[in-house]
Amino acid sequence: MADLLLGQVLSFAGDPFEAADAVRLDEAVVIEGGKIRALGAAGALRAAHPGAQVTDYGRSLISAGFVDAHVHYPQTAIIASWGKRLIDWLNLYTFPEEMRFADPAYAAEVAARYFDLALAHGTTSMCSYATIHPASVDAFFEAARSRGLRAFAGKTCMDRNAPDGLRDTAQSAYDDSKRLLQKWHGVDRLSYVITPRFSPTSTPEQLAAMGALWREYPDCLMQTHLSEQTDEIAWVKDLFPQSRDYLDTYETQGLLREGAVYGHAIHLTAREKSRLVEAGASLVHCPTSNTFIGSGLFDMGLARQLRVGLATDTGGGSSFSMLRTMAAAYEVGQLRGQALHPSQLWWLATQGSARALRAEHQIGNLAPGMEADLVVIDLASTPAIEQATRRAEDLWQAVFPTIMMGDDRAICAVWIGGQRQSVTGR
Ligand code: GUN
Ligand code: ZN
Repeated sequence: MADLLLGQVLSFAGDPFEAADAVRLDEAVVIEGGKIRALGAAGALRAAHPGAQVTDYGRSLISAGFVDAHVHYPQTAIIASWGKRLIDWLNLYTFPEEMRFADPAYAAEVAARYFDLALAHGTTSMCSYATIHPASVDAFFEAARSRGLRAFAGKTCMDRNAPDGLRDTAQSAYDDSKRLLQKWHGVDRLSYVITPRFSPTSTPEQLAAMGALWREYPDCLMQTHLSEQTDEIAWVKDLFPQSRDYLDTYETQGLLREGAVYGHAIHLTAREKSRLVEAGASLVHCPTSNTFIGSGLFDMGLARQLRVGLATDTGGGSSFSMLRTMAAAYEVGQLRGQALHPSQLWWLATQGSARALRAEHQIGNLAPGMEADLVVIDLASTPAIEQATRRAEDLWQAVFPTIMMGDDRAICAVWIGGQRQSVTGR
């Protein structure tokens, strides 16, 4: 049976970084068989779908669910840990926590907790790093599959500069990744992502092994970190003296082409930028992480040249909320003299991230034929937000206070694959 949802239905007819008229606002959306059937006026859709079950969300905003293009689900428990710089933070909090994922029961427990939190914050798809343990990948995909999510992840590969118990080898990383890829890639709505953590923790041999695996499975994504902090970049220079720059450490091993998804990418040289554009790679902006760990200010001007997604980077990022992440992206943009319009922020958190993951025809927007993952947002979820929206004269004046001050309290409903979810606490 079809469902008909009434509310302020937000979708994109184009990219708001390119077209001023990219935004569509409708009164209703029809869902059937897990897909979006139609958007339009309430009366017309009611008449065309007389048997549909109607849910009236009043003045709430109905949007595609948020797509978080870069998270570390194993870092759920260490979010908001005080620290200094990236490498200290990795050694002090991240690596000891990731060590615990040697226990598959712990991995399953954290995966379940992570997905409950993500859904409660309106995030319906995510691209995650696991740990080096194959069972941590199984835990992620089993939990995503049981919830019917479109989700992306891979085994994090590290064969140096990580503690005992958290290192694989070039060969075992290749073998384990390949086995997991064959097990999970394309199962239901799941995609395997080849995942070398970053150049400091992979030998050239391991990066080459990941490049070889990617050549065997060219339709997979490959994710890693790039140029997040200046001291990290100096370390990469020491570790790879022959390389022209950080990106070159990936490029020479076959890890730069369309489908490459680089997290952070803040301190890029002119050569790196032009190679990324030529190659058609994706970048992921992680603004709460970049301010929390003190990494730097991403250049959103790049969104006009290549695929840019938005992400929490949990637990380097300080929130599970893509609303908080949009707020941080706005603030970072302001510090760079790039005032992002709310439509651009919303697009980045939905269609932009989906595009960075090459899934823009399936998720991240509401249009006939797309998968029915939706979030319903209360635009007056707290007294502070409510009083600010009371004077709004247009859609974006009504939405912007929720972008800047909203969190999981604004999420009134989540639909996955056309099914309404019972979100924890609601
Ligand atoms: N660089 C390599 N690993 C990580 C990680 O886990 N978090 C962040 N923010 N940066 C990284
Ligand atoms: Zn990361």
